[in-house]
Amino acid sequence: MKLISHPAFQTASGSPVVRLGQGTWHLGEQHARRTSEIAALQRGIALGLNLIDTAEMYGGGRSEALIGEAIRGTDRASLYLVSKVYPHNAGRANIFKSCEASLKRLGTDYLDLYLLHWRGNVPLAETAACMEELVSRGLIRHWGVSNLDTADMQELAAVPDGAHCVTDQILYHLASRGVEFDLLPWLESHQMTAMAYCPLAQYGDLERGLIGNRGLTAVARRHNASAAQILLAFTLLRDFVIPIPKSSSPEHTEDNAKALEIELTAGDVAELSRDYPAPTSKTWLDIV
Ligand SMILES: NC(=O)c1ccc[n+]([C@@H]2O[C@H](COP(=O)([O-])OP(=O)(O)OC[C@H]3O[C@@H](n4cnc5c(N)ncnc54)[C@H](OP(=O)(O)O)[C@@H]3O)[C@@H](O)[C@H]2O)c1
Repeated sequence: MKLISHPAFQTASGSPVVRLGQGTWHLGEQHARRTSEIAALQRGIALGLNLIDTAEMYGGGRSEALIGEAIRGTDRASLYLVSKVYPHNAGRANIFKSCEASLKRLGTDYLDLYLLHWRGNVPLAETAACMEELVSRGLIRHWGVSNLDTADMQELAAVPDGAHCVTDQILYHLASRGVEFDLLPWLESHQMTAMAYCPLAQYGDLERGLIGNRGLTAVARRHNASAAQILLAFTLLRDFVIPIPKSSSPEHTEDNAKALEIELTAGDVAELSRDYPAPTSKTWLDIV
């Protein structure tokens, strides 16, 4: 099992977090899919996928409420719950109310990790100070950011307590590798993790032709694996990167969990890189 070695990525009961999380964007938005979505999350938990990623934005709070329902009956201390605050709520005026509302919807009294969803107009120093206050009040255990590029991370590291940030959640998949040039090396050298969102490129929606790509298909065939599993195995290559694929069915969740057992060879990576090469210069951070 691939585990995260970073000290901030332990559950409250002291168990390490598995290096494949469960994304939840759009979960909880359609009543007809509720049963399958809850079953998907519960299957993931049963398979050991103890990190669940959400945000106050997702479904206007309905994703958090769905997670709350899915985890009722599971020992809270065995889970690692991540939520995000809107940029316009990430200052002293609103962050405490926002965090408390997320906790209420999730049916818990603390978050393991709370992220600034993307950078807005609130100064980073104010957000960092508020995050520290949330930690000292016991409402969150750790904090981080999302969608910040290298220059933003450098700015954050320079504000008081900015170095307490433990992660940057960023878009990263085989067909969007720009972060390999400078952001991933920066995060690694500052002992932070990178949470890889859209690791499946929304199953090809973000990159036409990705799922049927011949390199991806050939590598998948060699490993007797699905295209999704190989895409996840690619993002798992660096041990400080945590992919958080979203699944709405137990079948997809099971498929994804098996990616933790796949070890790509240098030959596999070369074949995957033929059509999706590593960057050779700085490109701006991709976001959705
Ligand atoms: N911080 C940010 O700004 C940000 C932005 C975007 C996303 N995120 C987070 O990252 C998570 C993942 O990103 P995402 O949901 O946009 O995209 P994604 O995980 O790359 O792709 C999700 C899509 O892949 C499909 N899928 C999942 N497993 C599959 C499998 N084994 N075989 C075939 N299809 C499969 C899903 O279908 P089904 O739903 O039908 O299973 C869904 O359509 C989000 O849910 C969210 O938690 C964060």
